[in-house]
Amino acid sequence: MRFQQLLQMRRYASATLRRSVTATTPTPATTTTTTTVRTMAGSGAAIPELTQITDNVQRGNYAELNDKDVAHFEKLLGKNHVLTEDLEGYNICFLKRIRGNSKLVLKPGNTEEVAAILRHCNERKLAVVPQGGNTGLVGGSVPICDEIVLSLQRLNKVLSVDEVTGIAVVESGCILENFDQRAREVGLTVPLDLGAKASCHIGGNVSTNAGGVRVVRYGNLHGSVLGVEAVLANGQVLDLMSNFKKDNTGYHMKHLFIGSEGTLGVITKLSMLCPHTSKSVNVAFIGLNSFDDVLKTFVSAKRNLGEILSSCELIDERALNTALEQFKFLNAPISGYPFYMLIETSGSNGDHDEEKINQFIGDGMEKGEILDGTVTGDPGKVQEIWKIREMVPLGLIEKSFCFKYDISLPLRDFYSIVDVMRERCGPLATVVCGYGHLGDSNLHLNVSCEEFNDAIYKKVEPFVYEYTSKLKGSISAEHGIGFLKKDYLHYSKDPVAINWMRDMKKMLDPNGILNPYKVLN
Ligand code: FAD
Ligand code: MLT
Ligand code: ZN
Repeated sequence: MRFQQLLQMRRYASATLRRSVTATTPTPATTTTTTTVRTMAGSGAAIPELTQITDNVQRGNYAELNDKDVAHFEKLLGKNHVLTEDLEGYNICFLKRIRGNSKLVLKPGNTEEVAAILRHCNERKLAVVPQGGNTGLVGGSVPICDEIVLSLQRLNKVLSVDEVTGIAVVESGCILENFDQRAREVGLTVPLDLGAKASCHIGGNVSTNAGGVRVVRYGNLHGSVLGVEAVLANGQVLDLMSNFKKDNTGYHMKHLFIGSEGTLGVITKLSMLCPHTSKSVNVAFIGLNSFDDVLKTFVSAKRNLGEILSSCELIDERALNTALEQFKFLNAPISGYPFYMLIETSGSNGDHDEEKINQFIGDGMEKGEILDGTVTGDPGKVQEIWKIREMVPLGLIEKSFCFKYDISLPLRDFYSIVDVMRERCGPLATVVCGYGHLGDSNLHLNVSCEEFNDAIYKKVEPFVYEYTSKLKGSISAEHGIGFLKKDYLHYSKDPVAINWMRDMKKMLDPNGILNPYKVLN
């Protein structure tokens, strides 16, 4: 038998995938799902010092919150939706790296309330940070000083899902997993999937232009989001909703809000094009000897799997081993290889898809590029394999401090930075590893150490940005700039472009109340 080493080969038509979700939810009661939800990332990490102090941040020229403001908001939203106590979960970022000192969290229930809040804040010059699921990894979703947290948690409804057009309209605070569940009820799926799906909000995803594991198939959110409703800093509601793929009426302003990380407006609603759920899903988890073989296998996947290729992820040995050490419940089908790839196909004809993926693996094994692996169409096993990939980021922060990078690099130079960084950090780092969205040229370089320390920080930054810039890569492929990368934006953006960003920010938010200290320095 040609694929003796493969452990499983089964075909399941009409497989309905329900991915197990692993993300931490840092804010209380944000999710109603049955998934593994912990209370705070990196249980080993201590509560950080206030970022304003550690990073010597000069507070902007904003007003101080007073009792009258609080009373105003209580009248507007009702007392239950105005929080002044137990705000830690809203003040600390997922990675426990950034900590603000907000004294107020507001939870509006509709667009009008968001508009009224911002109108008041703009008039009073009170700074605001929009917050979704608070799973962001660049410190964008938490206050830096004492900004008011505007939580979108209550805007959580899926307003419509149209089986015929494939268009869904959803409020921005809807948890991604819940949105996907609703879409699946009518045979559609949300074209975005990421490990934080049990906690992150679709509005947070759009605001960060989140990537995830299916960009190779569906492209990014600039393509899938058809329209947005956003509230500007002055409280004006900008209706850019559209239910059509094609709409060339004037400037395509919705794109300004996709990926602007809450600095230009607060997204309250959006429409999204959702593809039909695939009838047949197969996942292969394979072991390879070298990065050269990884590249050959990727080319082969594109060539031979073609239109059914729906994900192509890379995990290196250290990343996998760290996850396996931390989470004993994970079941790795193979071990002992320097590189692993997770390749997924999604199609509409089980026989055809199975034949294709088996052929692809058989060819790879014959050439000696694929050494071992497992392939499965069993929904439970598919889920188990995805769980391994999803736990990788959590493994690295479970007991350590982790410097995380999400960079775009040319594929030929994709992995070299991991080896270079390992050499640079030497024994200062406990783990230096790479994984990520190979199919999109997006590497997650991670450097773990016992706790944050300046010596290793200096080894890693700005080196990683210089290295990326020299290769004409991007210093942020998907997580955004937030607070952590704002001083490094120039490594990936031309000064003229940065000035245009500043001008746009001034035009849409002249008082600078929306998410200050983020993206632009
Ligand atoms: P938050 O973290 O709350 O906010 C992120 C930014 O968006 C902030 O600047 C905030 O101010 C702004 N914002 C939030 N909501 C709104 C709104 N309604 N209007 C305006 N601004 C808003 N990211 C990826 O891209 N790909 C991945 O594969 C991926 N995997 C992850 C896996 C794990 C385990 C974790 C913890 C994170 C992962 N992330 C990934 C990062 C994170 O989940 C994404 O950036 C996600 O899109 C953030 O959504 P959120 O609702 O948590 O937003
Ligand atoms: C991922 O792809 O797992 C996420 O972007 C999170 C990370 O970078 O660790
Ligand atoms: Zn990622």
